[in-house]
Amino acid sequence: MAVLISPSILSADFANLERDLGVIADADYVHVDVMDNHFVPNLTLGLPVVRRLVEVSPVPLDVHLMIEDPDRWAPAFAEAGVASVTFHAEAAQGSVRLARELRARGARAGVALRPATPVEPYLDLLDEFDMILVMTVEPGFGGQAFIEGTLAKVRRARAAIDAAGAATWVQVDGGVSRDTIAAIAEAGANVFVAGSAVYGASDPAAEIAALRAIADGAARP
Ligand code: DX5
Ligand code: ZN
Repeated sequence: MAVLISPSILSADFANLERDLGVIADADYVHVDVMDNHFVPNLTLGLPVVRRLVEVSPVPLDVHLMIEDPDRWAPAFAEAGVASVTFHAEAAQGSVRLARELRARGARAGVALRPATPVEPYLDLLDEFDMILVMTVEPGFGGQAFIEGTLAKVRRARAAIDAAGAATWVQVDGGVSRDTIAAIAEAGANVFVAGSAVYGASDPAAEIAALRAIADGAARP
């Protein structure tokens, strides 16, 4: 399965987002963390900024909504022309209905799970979601340590997807680095978000290549 790298601009320079998008042009996506200071204790950016990022980004946008009431707010992000919209399972009232609304607006639909949220309720509904985001840290901040116990959830998600012959992607977000990415790829993830690892590197493009090479080497055939 192809490895997809999605650097997170949470660790970019918010005064120079267009410049910092330019240095990750070799990535597959750019991961955009929308936080509302309610679902998580941090505030980042919203729809007006996302609309401009769509216009200037060299790669498609992978939007991660860490917000309350995504049923109300998420569809507008799909309408903004982003490639993928992921909302949190813990915040959504009707995750299947919302995923269908996102797809109807032309976006891929993802459902995100905090570290302590089980994946099992979604395993009978794989066809409804283009991606399951397994959070490997508690959402809210970049630069946190990878939570090892979340790998078991990645393995269970991958096993169920393969058994069902589903096309759902498994994304991981939080603490992804050269030290952790091999084990995560081996567990069955195929989309890798990396914020501080990429933007904290002296050469972000080289870091993307290095992460991709390690994940490719460890990924399942
Ligand atoms: C955290 C965000 C992540 C964050 C990851 O809540 O969802 O996307 O940018 O940062 P790193 O890769 O530094 O752990
Ligand atoms: Zn994220």
